[in-house]
Amino acid sequence: FDYQLLTGKHVVITAGPTREAIDPVRYITNKSSGKMGFALAEAAAEAGARVTLIAGPVNLPTPSRVDRVDVSRAVDMFDACMKTVDEGCDVFIATAAVADYRPTVTADHKIKKSTEEIHLTLVKNPDIVASVAEHDKRPFTVGFAAETRDVVAYAQAKLVNKKLDMIATNDVSGSNVGFNSDNNALTVIWPGGHKVLPLASKAQIAKQLIELIAIRYKD
Ligand code: C5P
Repeated sequence: FDYQLLTGKHVVITAGPTREAIDPVRYITNKSSGKMGFALAEAAAEAGARVTLIAGPVNLPTPSRVDRVDVSRAVDMFDACMKTVDEGCDVFIATAAVADYRPTVTADHKIKKSTEEIHLTLVKNPDIVASVAEHDKRPFTVGFAAETRDVVAYAQAKLVNKKLDMIATNDVSGSNVGFNSDNNALTVIWPGGHKVLPLASKAQIAKQLIELIAIRYKD
């Protein structure tokens, strides 16, 4: 591992889930632990980068030499990301499991039990990584795709649709990889190539992915 790989570069990473409030005591979220994003932040810092980690609600310590920004809702994560991209950064890695939808309204008070059936209306959240890839000051943009089937085909479509430079995909149907696991296996795809990173600790996978990103970024 080359400890100067990203010296002088500013790397921005999103991690963890987002939390979309229904009322003051209830919210919609997902199973993301944030471990992959935090491991990438640590690896990028070890590679000499200045790292900004924009984290949803997770229970993880901040890696050393990493600037952390804590957010809760997808719209807050969006604002924090756009601010750092406006200011200028070199590489953007989106590992966060951003909620696709949020409740259209957040009730001011706890919703009381009433009828047998109640309905929750949801509205789409902004796509953060796609917005970053469309920015005037577009950094080298990397996405993630967690799928339970047709992993590579869905990832390839996301690479194109979201105009990404690279996408890392993992199969989250098994319990030994993805979400809360300490291990992961990835297939990394970019326009014109791909590489399989076999099952290893998230720390090891993170170092390998940072190396791949640095090589493709410099091309
Ligand atoms: O479309 P899908 O959610 O599967 O795409 C996953 C990728 O897009 C991840 O890199 C994720 O961080 C990013 N994403 C995002 N903003 C969203 C939804 C997904 O940045 N609202």
